[in-house]
Amino acid sequence: MARKYGICGNVSEKSGATLFGIPEGTSARACADMAGVTDVTAVALLMKRDKFEGKVGQTCVIEFLDDEDKSKLVLFGLGNKEGASLKTWKKCLAAAYKAVLKEKESVVRVGLPLTEWDLNESDLQKIAQSVTQLAGRIDYRFDRHKTVSRHEYRGIDELLVLQPETMRSSVFSKLIKPYVDKGDYLARAVNAVRDMVNEPASHMSAATVVREAEMVIKAAENPALTMRCYGKQQLIDMNMGAFLGVNKGSTTEPVLIQVDYNPRNAKKGVHLFLVGKTVIFDTGGHNMKLSGNMDKMKIDMAGGAAMLHTMYVIARLGLPVRVTALLPATDNMIGPDAMMPGDVLTSMCGKKIEITNTDAEGRLCLIDAITHAIAQGATHIVDMATLTGAMIMACGHTAAGIFGNDNEFINTLIDASKVAGEQLHHFPLEEFEEMRPAHKSEISDLVNSAGGGGGHIKAAFFISEFVGNTKWVHLDIAGVAYSPKPTEFDPKGATGFGVTTLVELAEAMST
Ligand code: BES
Ligand code: MN
Ligand code: ZN
Repeated sequence: MARKYGICGNVSEKSGATLFGIPEGTSARACADMAGVTDVTAVALLMKRDKFEGKVGQTCVIEFLDDEDKSKLVLFGLGNKEGASLKTWKKCLAAAYKAVLKEKESVVRVGLPLTEWDLNESDLQKIAQSVTQLAGRIDYRFDRHKTVSRHEYRGIDELLVLQPETMRSSVFSKLIKPYVDKGDYLARAVNAVRDMVNEPASHMSAATVVREAEMVIKAAENPALTMRCYGKQQLIDMNMGAFLGVNKGSTTEPVLIQVDYNPRNAKKGVHLFLVGKTVIFDTGGHNMKLSGNMDKMKIDMAGGAAMLHTMYVIARLGLPVRVTALLPATDNMIGPDAMMPGDVLTSMCGKKIEITNTDAEGRLCLIDAITHAIAQGATHIVDMATLTGAMIMACGHTAAGIFGNDNEFINTLIDASKVAGEQLHHFPLEEFEEMRPAHKSEISDLVNSAGGGGGHIKAAFFISEFVGNTKWVHLDIAGVAYSPKPTEFDPKGATGFGVTTLVELAEAMST
């Protein structure tokens, strides 16, 4: 997304659209005054045409058919003061953005509801953040494989937040600008994840994820962000037998990508690891998926993609906390060398795993990366994965599952998800103790698939065997990584789930 954005002091530009929030019941004269328009009658007529009363979700487009002034005003309803909240603001602003997209405008200026709503400083900052964040979220399309799209309207490419007349420039840049920036970084990251997840597997491999990581390092413009890759031979030398087992059927080599963020002012004693499932495509292996279950499996790298782009935002914000992302990247294919049901693999930590189902591959990638994280001194681990179909049965496309071994850390994540506006549903492992032994193997230490119900919970127990005493949380995003239909703010397809929550987590852990 090449969108430019910034701040601007006045509304006298002669093109593009300027968005003004209007409280319910505002007169045409007051609207005209506020927007600096002299022709009150025209404004009144247009408001009448659009039945615009300033209610939440209503909009009114005012065009100037003057030769010189080609700009448009988009009035959008703010409802009444009692309903003022970030949530309401998002609904209001979303309606305005949709009107802008319908008008095919590319330059957009947005006024903040500074005098219309009584806001404290922190509310105002969140509202400023949502201006850029929401624009990115709504104005997303995946059309790189459409041959005709290049000549079409490309959406918003310049987004400006208007500096309120009553606010001094120095106050604006100190108070508001960092949040406009944060919203922009988050939008870029979320849309980059969506691009990776929507991209067909034939256009991707572990090597393209390496290139994506290199792009992230460059774009973050922060020397504290670095990366290294472990290739096949190194993985063999490190004894990552579980991860390597998944790659056996592949014609391309696996890579473990490590992205490190180690700022000078990092909080002492904290090293957070983000371990993301990065399965380029999941055929299921010899326990092949039925055709109806296989067609979405290009999304199986959504966890890793989200963690990679989370690192971009963390580095851009310069958060004072040490974070490392680990992306074990491979596909899960069928071939003469592919792992077979009944095989026994030796994981990096030495535990031996009987493969009872080659389709339970995600956990095999995760556990070796987790062992590698612990070896490097992880104090906290979050793993995120499109791990089980059972997760979709349990929470649909509404909430991700959260599991873990430390209630304080789990709650920190749940709090972060609430700030982020992403839904997590907690499955306390202590309530499902009976499932813990489900992965006992007759011939080795563990089986990789236990069968039976509660697959999302059992998978968490499987991973818990490899985390020891390290504080650990597992997020199963099988349902939320992809939306089968458009929702209030998001188009159909990849969602970019997790980025915002993990950024909020890193922020919480840096104080
Ligand atoms: N990638 C799948 C899980 C998945 C399914 C993600 C649908 C998104 C949508 C995962 O690798 C898988 O195949 N899980 C198996 C595990 C089972 C064999 C224990 C499943 O859930 O069926
Ligand atoms: Mn699978
Ligand atoms: Zn999978």
